Amino acid sequence: MKRTWKSISFLFVVMLLMALMAACSNSSGGSSKVSVGIVLPTKDEPRWVQDEQRFKDALSDSEYTTEILFSQGSSAKEKENVETLLNKGIEVLIITPHDGAAAASAVEAAKKEGVTVISYDRLITNTDAVDYYVTFDSVAVGAAQGQYLIDNAQGKDVPLYLYAGAASDNNAFLFFEGAWSVLQPKIADGTFKIANSVEAEKLKDKVELTRDEMSKILGQVTTNWDANDAKNKAQTHLTAAGADLKGDVAVLAPNDGTARSIADVFGSDGDITSYLVTGQDAEKASIQYVIDGKQSMTVFKDVRTLVKDAMGIAVEILDGKTPDTTGSYDNGNKEVKAKQTDVIVVDEENVKKELIDSEYYEASEFTGL
Ligand code: GAL
Repeated sequence: MKRTWKSISFLFVVMLLMALMAACSNSSGGSSKVSVGIVLPTKDEPRWVQDEQRFKDALSDSEYTTEILFSQGSSAKEKENVETLLNKGIEVLIITPHDGAAAASAVEAAKKEGVTVISYDRLITNTDAVDYYVTFDSVAVGAAQGQYLIDNAQGKDVPLYLYAGAASDNNAFLFFEGAWSVLQPKIADGTFKIANSVEAEKLKDKVELTRDEMSKILGQVTTNWDANDAKNKAQTHLTAAGADLKGDVAVLAPNDGTARSIADVFGSDGDITSYLVTGQDAEKASIQYVIDGKQSMTVFKDVRTLVKDAMGIAVEILDGKTPDTTGSYDNGNKEVKAKQTDVIVVDEENVKKELIDSEYYEASEFTGL
């Protein structure tokens, strides 16, 4: 009798445990099917938290299930995220690679499972496992930053401090290519003098740079998209700079996250009389800097459009249709069908028009507007 009670209570405990496990997996959406998996590079940069919110806004009434995962600046974590989503049965993967080349193995795993891969904002390179690419005109971003410095700098021999994005990001080369295309003639004619890169100085008479030549310059002025790296680099450059490289200066900063920390360093150097500094992404903190005159401009990339393009392609795939695209990008392995969105220059003159009237942000989120 005693043994019977023992086996019955043991059986009862096992059944309770199984019920609990089943309940846990369903509540976290652990094992339930996901149609569209979304992988973003990191939560540590406001830019990608923006995209997460815009995806959530866009998907709130979608019939398709989605899940957003972050790779926290690690290609290994990124691969893990893709595997997690493949195990949930995704049919479409929307992914912004942490490292464009290293992401190839993750998307090749997805391809093997017949999943459609959409590269989001950043291109995944050197693989045929990418089906579509949605992005902004990244060359135009750099050209707009360079042109802003040309249009607002005064006089000749203006010290020009160059900074760039992470070399693991294909966009960093497109941004720099765009900036160089407009700045190089103004460096060659003496409007600007390069203040912080021997490699760029060597190439100042060269209109078009090869990828290798750009790599050499990026090797000296990359911020790795990290605000701290940017701050340390700016401090090192200003410490090394003589009086002829101070005064009224121009700074090419690749995005808002790095622009704010570079601006803080230049703003606290007593020998810097004034500085122009560029940016990108229209992050809220940088819009406040622009309003306060601490950052000169940013390049607004309306993420709502990028999300709409990416989800539009995903839904067409899920509906068995062939998505429309407007062009293509060579990723080193194939021409990837692409959709590209234009960008908008924002400075203190048009903040309200471009960011408040467009309902991208609320006026109440800023002071001094
Ligand atoms: C780029 C992206 C930018 C920028 C950066 C840093 O690829 O196009 O908007 O924010 O990454 O994450």
